[in-house]
Amino acid sequence: MTKIRAAITGIAAMVPPHILTNRDLEKIVDTSDEWITTRTGIKERHILKGEGLGTSEMGASAVKDLLRKTGTSPEEIDLLICATVTPDLIFPATANIISDKAGIKNAFSYDLNAACSGFLFALATGSKFIESGASKKVIVVGADKMSAITDYSNRDTCVLFGDGGGAVLLEPAINGYGIMDSILQADGSGQPYLHMKAGGSVRPPSHETIDGKEHFVYQEGQAVFKFAVTKMADVSAEIMEKNNLTGDDIAWLIPHQANLRIIEATARRMGIGKNKVMINIERYGNTTSATIPLCLWELEHQLKKGDNLILAAFGGGFTWGAIWVKWAYDS
Ligand code: ACO
Repeated sequence: MTKIRAAITGIAAMVPPHILTNRDLEKIVDTSDEWITTRTGIKERHILKGEGLGTSEMGASAVKDLLRKTGTSPEEIDLLICATVTPDLIFPATANIISDKAGIKNAFSYDLNAACSGFLFALATGSKFIESGASKKVIVVGADKMSAITDYSNRDTCVLFGDGGGAVLLEPAINGYGIMDSILQADGSGQPYLHMKAGGSVRPPSHETIDGKEHFVYQEGQAVFKFAVTKMADVSAEIMEKNNLTGDDIAWLIPHQANLRIIEATARRMGIGKNKVMINIERYGNTTSATIPLCLWELEHQLKKGDNLILAAFGGGFTWGAIWVKWAYDS
């Protein structure tokens, strides 16, 4: 029997118009364009401004555009998964809010939190609903308003993050295209190095948590860097070995955009030249769940049917993973 795979059949994204440059940050904290550029590769990031606007604003905008681009009616969608660490509210799920804003009425929807690996975890999960035959049209969203949990008085973290959202449509394919394989991993002992200290059930919001700036990203950069550089490279090499792929077989590596040095180390380990690595960190920074869909969105016009893509990510948790995709259409 021919295996049903989940093919990505469309992609859309939304980045808010307001741009925060390294020069702007030089006026806020003790940093420099030179430090940020050489240590991270980031030049600017987009920030969602406006009263009452959260992650669902970007997610819903991307989903509406995706439906329009692919000629899909909202009623046809049977599942929507939103990867995010910055939900509009702790509950209900931002996925439900996005579905409502986009007119999606016949779907179930839920959020998934795997920090910067969130989009990969959601893509792998969504693809299983297609492969099993349970769903016919699945939307996977990766969206984060990182500016909502970034302390703009802390130079260690405020230079890193930006806001954005992207969405892909998954549909069944029996022609050998689609999500071919995935390796996903998590190690909860990484929690001390990358987390938000308060706002959950262990430390609910209080005057003390607000005064202590506990509602922002806390990161021990060097410890995370060491882990990220090893794990993202290891898992990318592993998925290639497992599927007998060499660097020559890969059209594009699409890595999570947290740090240019981590991306370059991953590409070296995979034997992939820089010309085949999708990099846009200089313009968006780390948008957490949105980095990979933003890359796919910008790359879409260059992708050809049959291209082998490796998507790779590392994030808080710790979480990490890689997905092999055989691209399903010429745009
Ligand atoms: N401007 C100027 N100096 C700075 C800045 C800044 N913005 N930030 C830190 N420094 C200083 C530090 O204070 C330190 O000074 P010192 O030597 O006098 O103590 C010096 O620069 C070096 O600091 P490090 O933290 O060692 O810098 P490093 O080279 O490790 O770069 C960075 C920091 C960019 C955060 C890096 O560690 C990194 O990318 N880590 C991994 C991030 C990641 O992958 N996160 C996972 C995804 S995020 C998620 O899941 C939500």
